[in-house]
Amino acid sequence: MTARLIDGKAAASALRASVAARVAALPYRPGLAVVLLGDDPASMTYVRNKDKAAAEVGIDASTIRLPAETPQSALLARIKTLNADPAVDGILVQLPLPPHIDATAIIEAVDPAKDVDGFHPVNVGRLASGRPGLVPCTPLGVMRLLAYAKVTVAGARALVLGRSAVVGRPLVALLLAADATVTVAHSRTRELAEECRRAEILVAAMGRPEMIRADWIRPGATIIDVGINRRSDGRLVGDVAFAECAEVAGAITPVPGGVGPMTIACLLENTVEAAERRRGMASRVTA
Ligand code: GUN
Repeated sequence: MTARLIDGKAAASALRASVAARVAALPYRPGLAVVLLGDDPASMTYVRNKDKAAAEVGIDASTIRLPAETPQSALLARIKTLNADPAVDGILVQLPLPPHIDATAIIEAVDPAKDVDGFHPVNVGRLASGRPGLVPCTPLGVMRLLAYAKVTVAGARALVLGRSAVVGRPLVALLLAADATVTVAHSRTRELAEECRRAEILVAAMGRPEMIRADWIRPGATIIDVGINRRSDGRLVGDVAFAECAEVAGAITPVPGGVGPMTIACLLENTVEAAERRRGMASRVTA
């Protein structure tokens, strides 16, 4: 392997330490409410990890577990209570929600000032127009990883593969805000390999196991792999064929241990960010 490995665990640990310092500077412990409907095992694991990580930086996390068959009206009422609760700085409703719930209605019910997922249309609009707001955790984690790895983003040709509302689209806005020259590619993009070969920063977030091959990579490029796919043999792989691409790239994130650990660290960052803003304290101007 010739590429420099971008260590997401170390970057997340450094970010958590900076969040802990910001929490310590607040006159109270920020509160994070995580709402989980039902008992999907993967969701339960995520929620447990969020709780543990929050406690470690001094954030008061509480999980509100509700039955899978909770009516939408009851869930909306619960969110209204959390919106009004002064001890709650951040609200996260774990997705996916059961099919009888309209996820859009739930996302829109969360107070934008407490929307630590950055999914509310007010925050989506702020990000799209380059104004300060709360930003989705995974794309924020990508930006934090690039900064940690000291990759120059301003002026760089960046290619975002994937146009999801949760990763691709917000990442395009963040890279643009950081002065990259941004291209977004997707399933209908023609000459995808050529687009990839132009990229100095390539972010793969299309959810296709090991689709990006070594001969698509510009020598020396930085590769950030957001994909997490489980193969039939149980192995976790990204959207990038890691071993062969690491022979061409200048820097690359592993899967697991790359973007993954950054997502929860950014949720903690968003929670302290929301707490500071609600108190009118100085905070980041953009993501
Ligand atoms: N489920 C999987 N990822 C996420 C996320 O980032 N936010 C929420 N709310 N639910 C998720």
